[in-house]
Amino acid sequence: MAAISTSRYDQFARALHWLIVALIVVQYALAWTMPAIHKGTQPVGLITWHLEIGTVIIAVMLVRIVWRLLRREPEVVETTPSMRLVARLTHGLLYALLVVQPVMGWINASSRGWHVTLFGAIPLPALSPTGSPLGHEMGDLHQVLAWGLLGLIGLHLAGALYHHFILRDGVLRRMA
Ligand code: HEM
Ligand code: HEM
Repeated sequence: MAAISTSRYDQFARALHWLIVALIVVQYALAWTMPAIHKGTQPVGLITWHLEIGTVIIAVMLVRIVWRLLRREPEVVETTPSMRLVARLTHGLLYALLVVQPVMGWINASSRGWHVTLFGAIPLPALSPTGSPLGHEMGDLHQVLAWGLLGLIGLHLAGALYHHFILRDGVLRRMA
């Protein structure tokens, strides 16, 4: 039987967690409704929004990772070592993928000759030369990893619901 957790993530960590959730929801909605991207496609309309929200996700994730390293996790919940390992792996992979996967999209955008910005105002450097074959492959990987990220989020959500409804150990409250 797991012990009830009373400690929580601090307010800023909780705000960042739910901000990322909202941005991710919007980002997938945009990815699945924006026009198909082919050779010569211009970054306009929903595509621009996909790039803008994407770079904001990278920026917020970097802040989040720094904050996590500075503040650490609240007191760990008593659970089995294997459950702890699964949670640690899922969280670690979520942090890594939420930086790596969007950066791959950025590399692909650069290889298309698109200018990527932060908040539509701050110009970001091109991460690959226009027409780069590597940039082309990064676009394919960006799409494949988007599914991997979604699977991981599903696993994370299942874990959160399992803690809340089956174990009833207060883990959801740590982030709520
Ligand atoms: C967590 C953040 C992101 C997620 C979840 C995400 C998700 C996706 C998905 C699902 C697609 C495939 C769309 C389709 O089926 O047609 C896609 C395509 C694309 N995304 Fe992202 N994206 C993210 C961030 C970014 C960023 C930061 C950029 C660039 C600055 C970007 C640029 C692109 C480009 C250029 C494509 C087209 C790739 C190609 O067709 O080769 N994405 N994204
Ligand atoms: C886009 C979707 C999501 C992403 C990317 C995400 C990401 C993360 C990450 C990286 C952590 C680790 C925090 C840390 O230790 O620094 C975390 C923790 C947590 N998340 Fe999420 N999350 C998402 C959605 C959700 C949802 C929908 C729920 C609840 C229904 C949830 C509940 C929690 C809880 C309770 C924790 C704390 C776990 C613990 O104390 O060990 N998350 N999330």
